[in-house]
Order: sequence, then C-alpha cells, then structure tokens
Amino acid sequence: SRKFFVGGNWKMNGTKKVADELLSNLVKGPLDPNVEVLIGVPAIYLDFVKEKAPCNIYVAAQNCYKTEKGAFTGEISPSMLKDIGIDWVILGHSERRQIFQETDTLIAEKVNHALESGLSVVACIGETLEEREAGQTEAVVAKQIKAIKEKICNWQNVVIAYEPVWAIGTGKTASPQQAQDVHKILRKWLCDEVSETVAKTTRIIYGGSVTSSNCRELAKECDIDGFLVGGASLKPEFVEIINANQ
Ligand code: 13P
Repeated sequence: SRKFFVGGNWKMNGTKKVADELLSNLVKGPLDPNVEVLIGVPAIYLDFVKEKAPCNIYVAAQNCYKTEKGAFTGEISPSMLKDIGIDWVILGHSERRQIFQETDTLIAEKVNHALESGLSVVACIGETLEEREAGQTEAVVAKQIKAIKEKICNWQNVVIAYEPVWAIGTGKTASPQQAQDVHKILRKWLCDEVSETVAKTTRIIYGGSVTSSNCRELAKECDIDGFLVGGASLKPEFVEIINANQ
C-alpha cells in the first residue's frame, strides 16, 4: 500500500545544460507509473527545472530555512519555494548535518515549518561509521527521528530517508539485510511512538551508494519503500533505479 518512492539528489552538481540532459533522460524513461519520482535540484536551478519538468516528476529543494522571511542572508524559505511552484524539500541530509553543523533540533524546526507551509518533506537520518561500529545505530536514528516527532503533528507529507553516512558516496552500500534491519526498527519506532497508521503508511527509503546493480535486491526488502540516490541520479542508470521493482 506504500507507493514506491525514488528521489535523485543532485547535490551541488549540474549546469542548465546538464539539467536539460537529466530531464530528457527521465522524460524518455520509460518510468514505472507505480513509482513517485523526485529530483532534488540546486536552489539556483529550481525555477528552470520546474518550468521544464513533466508533472509526474516532483522537483525538490535540497534545503530551506525555518521561517517565512526576514534577515537571514543567503537562506531560502518554504513560502518562496511554494511561490515558484516547488512542493518538496529534502531536509536534514547528512551533508547538512556534518558540513554545515545542522543539529537535530534545527532540522526538526525546519521540517515543521516546511510542513506548516504546505511543502512535503524528505527527512534524512542515519548513523556514521564510528556510531555503527560502537553499536549505536539504533540509538542514533531513534534520537534523530524523535527530534522530528517532537516538532511535527502530521506525518502525512513526510518521507523518511535512512542514509547511513558511511554508505554515502563511498561505493559501500548497506547490504539489503543491514538496510532492512534499520528500516524495520524505524517502522517499529513509528508504531510505538506515533501510531500504527503512520507506521504502515510512511515511506522509509534507503540512500547510500544505490546503483542500477544493487537496487533490485534492496527493493525486495519489505520495509524498503524506495531510494534516495546521489551519484547515480546524475547518470542514465537513474531510470533503472526508478524501475527497480519491475
Ligand atoms: P550516493 O548515492 O552518491 O551515495 O549519495 C546518497 C545521498 O546522499 C543521497 O542523498
């Protein structure tokens, strides 16, 4: 009952020309109609991409701030995103957490404000290698998701992306079992701490070195509802990843 969801996170990559090429690749597809597809685009290209993207492809910002407007030089607000027709935002990516020191609390505030402003959110969580090796994976992801839970009251427009930091951009994918184990823990957490309905309906997608060669095995796991793809979303193989269930 959870519709498969595949996002491509372009990160800080691309030009107008590259954006055109990536869009044509998606338009050519063909894409499994039973999959929701999203592309996370650098802010400066959002308008350009949104104008050209077919309506079956969601266009997302990769970040936004926690208030509507004001003296926050360099920031972009959810209402500005809505103003140019953007309906989605990726928040809490590990690169935001690690490189830009975003805390659990700030991310939760951003998620809440984005939802209140009418955006849908891909909220990212995940442990570092050090945390995994110390046996803290469960505690870390629970702490990250709890921070979000404390600030929001409606999970309807939230997709959770589990992205273990050690798997991002490293070529070291989590095994299907490793990913499934954490997704299952997260779903149980949602059931215990939020509600059974939210646990059953919320998509939990996996990110970290997903490629056309490992996506099918990952997609077979019952708690993996899709992917958040970095590097491979900039390549033609992104179409194969979207179609992982076919
Ligand atoms: P890679 O697919 O390049 O490992 O990146 C994953 C990611 O961070 C998606 O948000």
